[in-house]
Amino acid sequence: MELVTIEWKNNRLVLLDQTKLPNQISYVTMHTVQDVWIAINTMIVRGAPAIGVTAAYGAYVGIQNVEDNVDKLKEKLQEITQYLATSRPTAVNLFWALNRMKDKGLSIKTSDVLTFKNLLLEEAKAIHQEDIAINRSIGEYLLTLLNDGQGVLTHCNAGALATTKYGTATAPFYLAKEKGINLKVFADETRPRFQGAMLTAFELYHAGIDVTLITDNMAATIMSQGKVQAVIVGCDRVAANGDVANKIGTLGVAILAKHYNIPFYVATPTPTIDLDCPSGAEIPIEERHSSEVLKPTGQFVAPQDVKIYNPAFDVTPAHLVSAIITEKGIIEHPCEEKIRAIFHK
Ligand code: MRU
Repeated sequence: MELVTIEWKNNRLVLLDQTKLPNQISYVTMHTVQDVWIAINTMIVRGAPAIGVTAAYGAYVGIQNVEDNVDKLKEKLQEITQYLATSRPTAVNLFWALNRMKDKGLSIKTSDVLTFKNLLLEEAKAIHQEDIAINRSIGEYLLTLLNDGQGVLTHCNAGALATTKYGTATAPFYLAKEKGINLKVFADETRPRFQGAMLTAFELYHAGIDVTLITDNMAATIMSQGKVQAVIVGCDRVAANGDVANKIGTLGVAILAKHYNIPFYVATPTPTIDLDCPSGAEIPIEERHSSEVLKPTGQFVAPQDVKIYNPAFDVTPAHLVSAIITEKGIIEHPCEEKIRAIFHK
């Protein structure tokens, strides 16, 4: 069973509703740009690359039915991209995709409205297709770092559901399966939203990949038992100096990996690298609603009025990262010079 996260179908943007997984497979159609904003904000669609692709289509959805001349549509496009940029703060793919759509729109020379709209839709489709190729390439590079029979720990969901195919951190697992290489994946459940349990375990299990779900507090134990030879995570933003923002809990896993001398790899499409952000200290970290911690499955698990702190992401410093794996190649022991150089490949 292959689940399609994002689809352009019958001239409409259709999203798999990830808030309903693993119990229900249902799709929602985006009719307006407000629908797209809500889908990103409420995590119907989530994961940095998937957010970027959705936002790209969202920019088109916002002008799709507007009857006006091209100059006015260009103004509208700028408003829409600004609006969608407020949907979530951390994953830089959102801003990258919106800027690309805006730049494309503003550079179009035609005065024909239909041509203008079609060119914008083509740009969104190009971003979508590029994501698939990027992930496959990341998977090929990551596979060169792994050996048959190894155990790999992953945190959160940087899987097919967080992208448009293969995932980033999970790409080597899908490719290993294609090539008959046996990897044993361990998925952290990833509190408070349980992306590891509800999404990673779900998608890998259904793909026939050897996956074992653990609670977040079991990572040290499986490392100490020698069950894990590598950690692979995705990311929401990599700063110019190689600091990495990813789902809350990633930092703890990186520290554990260092302690047990296990390589810690970060799967990173180049659109997730933010060269304008000097270090992790400047990455905006989203704080989400207290109910995610207080009522993780709908029932209160703590006193209703207890104080809650719920940052959705953390920053792993570059010195804990063994390598960043991009679609253009592997950056070992990342630093600013090496990260900038990858863009010239
Ligand atoms: O809050 P989420 O579910 O959008 O967070 C997702 C993650 O942190 C992923 O690890 C990251 O976006 C990489 S997805 C390839």
